Amino acid sequence: METYSGAVDKGLEGVVACTTGISSIVDATLCYRGYLIEDLAANSTFEETVFLLWNDRLPNKAELDDFKKNISKEMGLTEDQVKQLSQLPVKDVHPMAWLRTATSMLSLWDSEAQSTDEAAQHRVALKLTAKVGTLVALFERVRNGKAYVSPNPEKSFAWNFHYMMAGTEPDAEVVKVFDTCLILHADHELNCSAFSARVTASSLSDIYSAVVSAIGALKGPLHGGANEQVMRMLVDIGTVEKATEWVTNALANKEKIMGFGHRVYKNGDPRAKILRSMSQSLCKKAGTSYYDMSKVIDDTVQKEKGLLPNVDFYSASVYYSMNIPLDLYTPIFATSRVSGWLAHIFEQFSKNRIYRPRGEWIGKEGLKYTPIANR
Ligand code: COA
Repeated sequence: METYSGAVDKGLEGVVACTTGISSIVDATLCYRGYLIEDLAANSTFEETVFLLWNDRLPNKAELDDFKKNISKEMGLTEDQVKQLSQLPVKDVHPMAWLRTATSMLSLWDSEAQSTDEAAQHRVALKLTAKVGTLVALFERVRNGKAYVSPNPEKSFAWNFHYMMAGTEPDAEVVKVFDTCLILHADHELNCSAFSARVTASSLSDIYSAVVSAIGALKGPLHGGANEQVMRMLVDIGTVEKATEWVTNALANKEKIMGFGHRVYKNGDPRAKILRSMSQSLCKKAGTSYYDMSKVIDDTVQKEKGLLPNVDFYSASVYYSMNIPLDLYTPIFATSRVSGWLAHIFEQFSKNRIYRPRGEWIGKEGLKYTPIANR
């Protein structure tokens, strides 16, 4: 059998699994649809970035206004949805497990969930992108014994996420920073969760199923789950003075430092640079030492291991400065990344062939069945 031997049992490293026009990584450069991530982070909004990811071009003013209106319209949950979703267990439940289940449940209320009509599928995409953040906010409300807060259709997606979670109007700076975080997390070429979404979509399963697959993949600590683990590490270390020793010991024990390393970026993740400066100013404003601690860890890991921070490292202290509970960091990643998954699902549908790789046989051969009485 023909195999790419270098990639077998190596997480498909170096394997090009499909062509894509959504986002590209070249050396330390990330582009969405040809636009540099730095350019989008500085000038765009999450809603505009989603339009770009789905339509392969920036919208004009009327198109963007319309798109924003359509997202706002879909952001809210019905009374029945709130009632049923509020009954799901929350005690000792990780929000990513809850989100995976809740997202799957949404499909049961959606009469277009199984549709193969293109326009209906785009409506499903809009609903999912609008509602995943609402689900995360609802989870936070329910576990704190608080009532669901309806979104304000006049406000942005980023504004509404904080409003629905906290029940109070967010500060303008928080909204701006959060919006930038959403842009930075929206897509990332053929990462583990996008690939999961594409694999599920390739069987011509429905969009909800593909997104639920992706949520399951994002949950893992080697992928989206790393941002929460980074913050737990910072809290565990406790002070800037203890950071170098903590990291040196962890590396000596062959432990992985969450938020470092990347399968593709070997010369740095451009998103980490943007998040680093956001972390610096937000931690200073919040009066915490988490940026300083992060910088010491960053310098130590680079010196000892030659590894650079990825998107998850500085996003942890950024979210912490916004008073977001630690276990919601990965669900927030999903809130943004769902838009990228959907772009991948549509790209997959547009030139589909089912993913069906081979496994290289390393097991036993030629065995004869022994009746149970003789074993
Ligand atoms: N801390 C310490 N060592 C690390 C490391 C980290 N975060 N990331 C990679 N390494 C080391 C590995 O131990 C391995 O060393 P070895 O060759 O001596 O065994 C080497 O670097 C290669 O790592 P590997 O895990 O094989 O790379 P990968 O391409 O399979 O994995 C990641 C990429 C991102 C999964 C990996 O770097 C990692 O686990 N990082 C921490 C989790 C994280 O931040 N994930 C979010 C990614 S955006």
